[in-house]
Amino acid sequence: MLIHSIATTPFEGQRPGTSGLRKKVKVFQQEHYLENFVQSVFDSIGDYSGQTLVVGGDGRFYNLEATQTILKMAAASGFGKVLVGQNGILSTPAASCVIRKYNAYGGLILSASHNPAGPEEDFGIKYNMGNGGPAPESVTEAVFEQTGKIEWYQTIQCDDVDLSSTGTTEIAGMTVEVIDSVADYAELMQSLFDFDAIRDLLASDFRMAFDAMHAVTGPYATTIFEDMLGAPKGTVMNGVPKTDFGGGHPDPNLTYAHELVDVLYGEDAPDFGAASDGDGDRNMILGNHFFVTPSDSLAVIAANAELIPGYKAGIAGIARSMPTSGAADRVAEAMGLSCYETPTGWKFFGNLMDDGKVTMCGEESFGTGSNHVREKDGLWAVLCWLNILAARKTSVEAIITEHWAKFGRNYYSRHDYEGVDSAAATQVLQNVRDQFVSLCGTELAGRTVASCDDFSYTDPVDGSVSENQGVRVLFEDGSRIIFRLSGTGTSGATIRIYLESFEADTGKQGMDAQDALAGFIAAADDISGLQKLSGRDKPTVIT
Ligand code: G6P
Ligand code: ZN
Repeated sequence: MLIHSIATTPFEGQRPGTSGLRKKVKVFQQEHYLENFVQSVFDSIGDYSGQTLVVGGDGRFYNLEATQTILKMAAASGFGKVLVGQNGILSTPAASCVIRKYNAYGGLILSASHNPAGPEEDFGIKYNMGNGGPAPESVTEAVFEQTGKIEWYQTIQCDDVDLSSTGTTEIAGMTVEVIDSVADYAELMQSLFDFDAIRDLLASDFRMAFDAMHAVTGPYATTIFEDMLGAPKGTVMNGVPKTDFGGGHPDPNLTYAHELVDVLYGEDAPDFGAASDGDGDRNMILGNHFFVTPSDSLAVIAANAELIPGYKAGIAGIARSMPTSGAADRVAEAMGLSCYETPTGWKFFGNLMDDGKVTMCGEESFGTGSNHVREKDGLWAVLCWLNILAARKTSVEAIITEHWAKFGRNYYSRHDYEGVDSAAATQVLQNVRDQFVSLCGTELAGRTVASCDDFSYTDPVDGSVSENQGVRVLFEDGSRIIFRLSGTGTSGATIRIYLESFEADTGKQGMDAQDALAGFIAAADDISGLQKLSGRDKPTVIT
């Protein structure tokens, strides 16, 4: 089959962000746009001739078209084999699992995570390395540089590959193997968790609901919870993936997963509820009329790891992103483990896991995971909770309140101000920075400020330094107020304020987080001038 070199010219702005290149579908649909990016990836990742590439996505609009384009370009560029999910589907953690299991050279994941999908909405593509994790900045920058000077791309002319059923075909000497999207991932989950105990739990009067939010986890959750673990049909809500995610915004938090929240906070609520995002890497955990913060979820999973067969032998250490609460640190200390504090972004955990320094990681942004893959993993977190509930035979609320009684409660909340003018947002952070010296030793909301800084991280494995990762006001008792600009927002700037206050007294651990943090919320506004500068009197989203 003839390989065609197609002449092209660079597009501006193809720099991959925190999670790959994300743009409106309409942008990707421009002639050569996707091809330019894919060729630039292929030109930047070394010698892959004869090697295996993994391709799959979250099923959003344009997933299938993009998959066909990539298959033809991979064949023209000399890959030996492509493993592609059936119908082009692979959740992000499943793609990571497949890359690792089959020793692939790398993978292309087609997703814009929880961003809305459809012809008028978002599409995205990112490259993951042979360890199953997102490409480091050195690679994404090389890709970006290449997109600026690209002159041609290579492809072949052939019919589209049938992706509707599993099996193997060949195009231009390259093998295309269409794999079951769920099987390898489900097998990995089965190897980590006590499926028998969870099956018994689900056969008892324990009830759960899982909201796939019309996105990629539908087939995974249906296979694992309903088929393998025997949960009743209908346990998985919104389980059929749609190319527009049902018009929704599949981000598992109290605002966007309101359908599930209504069930768990309604009459006759089930014992346990969970949701995952568009591409399956985020998770939210709920009990009957009870919300588990992602920070507490990480701490509880780590503290109970020995109840889960895959972690019975012990965990090496824990890592959390800087704005994530210190609840996990208290567990690490009690267990004699190292705890690492990294900048926001899952990619910072990769080196720590590859180097064997940590087993479990988590972020306040509804991300939890372990070294079983190199992405955060929504269903993994749900299975951790089910395994712990099966072993401890008690409620979600009881597990959390007992955890607080033992380790103390880190009251926690994040307030987001979205779509703020960029200059105003920068000034908000600068206002706090300007008071770094004067704030030290003073009292805010009844607690003494111990120190203030701009968070900076030195990777203990490769020595790389990441500066300006958030403005911190740190209190003597471990409480914190942190200001940060989002790295993933699409319009204007998003200011995030992370509020955390520590409470050791069990008699004072039962408050609503917003009430417990009210003094800090007011203090954060006072020292930053946020509401005045942004022209807003309340946050857009509270988690
Ligand atoms: C994505 C990344 C996470 C990150 C989150 C929030 O989900 O994978 O690692 O925590 O975005 O990032 P942001 O910069 O918007 O706070
Ligand atoms: Zn995601």
